[in-house]
Amino acid sequence: MRRIALLGATGSIGTQAIAVIESTEGLELCALASGSSGLEQLAARHGVEHVQTGGDLTELLERAEPDVVLNAVVGFAGIGATLWSLERGVTLALANKESLVAAGDLALAAQQRGGGLLLPVDSEHSAAFQCLEGRSPDSVHSLVLTASGGPFHGRSCEELADVTVEDALAHPTWSMGPKITIDSATLANKGLELIEAHVLFGLPYDDLEVVVHPSSVVHALVRFRDGAALAHLGYPDMRVPISWALTYPDRAATELPQLDLAAGLTLEFSAPDLATFPLLALARRAGELGGTYPCAYNAANETAVAAFLDGRLSFLGIPELVAEALDAVDGAPARDLDELFEADEEARRLAERGMSVT
Ligand SMILES: NC(=O)c1ccc[n+]([C@@H]2O[C@H](COP(=O)([O-])OP(=O)(O)OC[C@H]3O[C@@H](n4cnc5c(N)ncnc54)[C@H](OP(=O)(O)O)[C@@H]3O)[C@@H](O)[C@H]2O)c1
Repeated sequence: MRRIALLGATGSIGTQAIAVIESTEGLELCALASGSSGLEQLAARHGVEHVQTGGDLTELLERAEPDVVLNAVVGFAGIGATLWSLERGVTLALANKESLVAAGDLALAAQQRGGGLLLPVDSEHSAAFQCLEGRSPDSVHSLVLTASGGPFHGRSCEELADVTVEDALAHPTWSMGPKITIDSATLANKGLELIEAHVLFGLPYDDLEVVVHPSSVVHALVRFRDGAALAHLGYPDMRVPISWALTYPDRAATELPQLDLAAGLTLEFSAPDLATFPLLALARRAGELGGTYPCAYNAANETAVAAFLDGRLSFLGIPELVAEALDAVDGAPARDLDELFEADEEARRLAERGMSVT
């Protein structure tokens, strides 16, 4: 039995993870965590003893001693659990991309000390991991991440001036929590994923490309130096990468539908519109600058998205606020977690201040 600690159990990934665990032999829940939602019923249904709502998730993990931590918390709040798992060499199935973006260097150092597995749950990174696994780094030319383009693909800046929260939450291909859905609409999600890919696969930013692919069937594609390219395809359903990570390396069977090629499949790709959706290029810049710039990017973006969801900021105000915060921070590398928290707080303060000025 593989004992799984599911953090963010009440969310979109959490709920799908429970479906996977319930339908897969050899997996059982040993711990559950949420931010504020009650977990009593879920814990009772699965006979889970270790349960926590909010607070320091590492205490829960210490008590539960899981084999695998599935970190599906949203935002920077997931950082403690990510670092705890990597430091102890406990297999980390990571959906919480924000923690890897904010703490890339600290996370890699912790993983080196701990020696455990870091398995991405993000569909693009799960796909890239599978295309890259077992290949010599020298043979890899570049990695392509695909983006659905979100609900506003093809629109101009003027057409985005008045979009509402409801418009932005209507994602065309994925059903997800509100924060990542807004990130998908602004392309900040792809920006976070670009940095996540750099951290996970050690590829320089020049070798990471993003293309828009509205049907979200190709999740990632790796180009090799001989001119060949390997792509990972599947219907957009997060239960596939969740199941892959939880049962790695066995790739347990699921009941999800196989790709039906004879029914017709159109694969369209195009370049992202970086001028209309500046958060993708801003992420690339933050990633290239390194230090705590990625942490600041994430913190300012979280602050701006929360304000947009609260009706305190316009859709176009989100990239403006992030750009201003990135211009104002010093971005110096964090030597430890305390310094990372300071960088995170500073960027949040700057973003809040940016809102009170406008
Ligand atoms: N949804 C997807 O398809 C998808 C795909 C790829 C990657 N991801 C990534 O997966 C993560 C989760 O996304 P989601 O869409 O599942 O988000 P979501 O639906 O908003 O769920 C977030 C979960 O995190 C919990 N949470 C929030 N703050 C917490 C805290 N301080 N301590 C413990 N738990 C906390 C929430 O609990 P409450 O219910 O109590 O608020 C909820 O269970 C994000 O990092 C996202 O980028 C998601």
